[in-house]
Amino acid sequence: MNNTIYEQIGGEENIRRLVDRFYDLMDARPEAEGIRRLHPDDLSGSREKLYLFLVGWTGGPPLYVQKYGHPRLRARHLPFPIGEAERDQWLLCMNQALDEVVEKAMLRQQISLAFGQLADFMRNKQD
Ligand code: HEM
Repeated sequence: MNNTIYEQIGGEENIRRLVDRFYDLMDARPEAEGIRRLHPDDLSGSREKLYLFLVGWTGGPPLYVQKYGHPRLRARHLPFPIGEAERDQWLLCMNQALDEVVEKAMLRQQISLAFGQLADFMRNKQD
């Protein structure tokens, strides 16, 4: 039986596809302009870091930790003002990417819920 989300989603290859689609959408969708502006012009570093993080977060090899140490995700996001709008823009792009990349509905729902909780935890300003 496949037990980790990492295995169920299809391993590194599909996580790479998910991350690429996520940042392509952030780059393209006018609704996400607010959070796009918080990111560097060149998104290649962001793509690589989110990819490394998600491989470990879904239960695969801990690539991000091996390279950068403990993620301390909330602390690393403190330099960027994140409220409800920014959270929702991030989730808009991620949920669309999930719709496109993850075929199994139950799995998609499970991952989407977990992203929703993590993105909400990242809020660091009053709306
Ligand atoms: C809630 C809305 C969010 C906003 C507006 C946001 C924005 C940002 C920005 C501006 C950066 C810095 C640019 C960069 O290094 O690429 C960043 C880094 C990062 N974000 Fe987010 N983020 C959000 C949520 C999340 C969530 C939910 C995750 C995980 C699922 C995540 C994972 C990461 C990672 C792994 C990095 C790289 C950290 C590092 O090593 O420096 N972010 N984010």
